[in-house]
Amino acid sequence: MRKLWIDTDTASDDAVALLMALREPSVQVLGISVVMGNVSLERAVRNALISVERAGTYAPPVYAGANKPLYRNTDFAVVCHGVDGLSDRGYPDPALKAATGNAVDAMLACARANPGEVELVTLGPLTNVAVAAFKDLESFRCFKSVTIMGGALRMPGNWSPVSEFNIIVDPEAAEAVFHAGVPVILAPFEICTGESLFLQEDRDRMATASEAGAFAVDCNTVLIEYGKRLGLNGLCLADPAAMAVVLWPEIVREQQETYICVETAGKYTTGMVIYDYIDHLHRPHNGNVIQRIDGPAFKEKTIRCLSK
Ligand code: BDR
Ligand code: CA
Repeated sequence: MRKLWIDTDTASDDAVALLMALREPSVQVLGISVVMGNVSLERAVRNALISVERAGTYAPPVYAGANKPLYRNTDFAVVCHGVDGLSDRGYPDPALKAATGNAVDAMLACARANPGEVELVTLGPLTNVAVAAFKDLESFRCFKSVTIMGGALRMPGNWSPVSEFNIIVDPEAAEAVFHAGVPVILAPFEICTGESLFLQEDRDRMATASEAGAFAVDCNTVLIEYGKRLGLNGLCLADPAAMAVVLWPEIVREQQETYICVETAGKYTTGMVIYDYIDHLHRPHNGNVIQRIDGPAFKEKTIRCLSK
């Protein structure tokens, strides 16, 4: 069975991605590390534990990690996910508790114990992951791959004119992870737009499919309203799109091996992901960029996964 480790700044779309991974029978989630990002570390840990409970399957350990970016200050994404990150719907506190121990050490121990087998999936800023690479590169390189929800390559940014949230919150961390020697699969924001948007009819199907499906729609109430303000006619689920690339790689329609890096010192472009699509820079390729997925297949598989 494939083995996953998930790093998440759990807010409402991370929650859906966690439900998907925990309900997909072909993978086993060995652990979850939490990082600040969409919300504070404390809220993100709470939301991760709620999500694990709502998945209704099994409970991998959840570890708290970084509570701030490597060098910068940050703002939380209240406008997208609400104050608590789950649309302020008043979910009760989880019965599950976070595991003792540090997220970085736990992640490294897991990679070391399963060399070449564990696929790392990141749904938030890359602070925990960069610290793991800095702390023990040899163990970090035991990860088989790292699939990153990050960047906006073929569309403007969602958190600056050119930058996507997960990357701009900690650009130095992202740059370090891109160059840490573990194969990168980059799932940029645009793959959750267009045909991948969850329209009203998709949300209705999901909400009536199961208790987990109802939670997945309900906790995204703020994100649905935010999308309308941006002129989107559906719910954009960035983390679930990245998770779907991992769980169901057959939905990928276009991808490209290329050199990827992050602007860390731009006047206007900090946090921008540079994707050298025709080898202008003549650098060794360090990542596979997912350029297009089958949106209807992504939605169908996600709804089915939450229906079981
Ligand atoms: C990313 O930022 C958050 O809003 C989402 O959880 C996703 O990880 C999208 O830019
Ligand atoms: Ca996230």
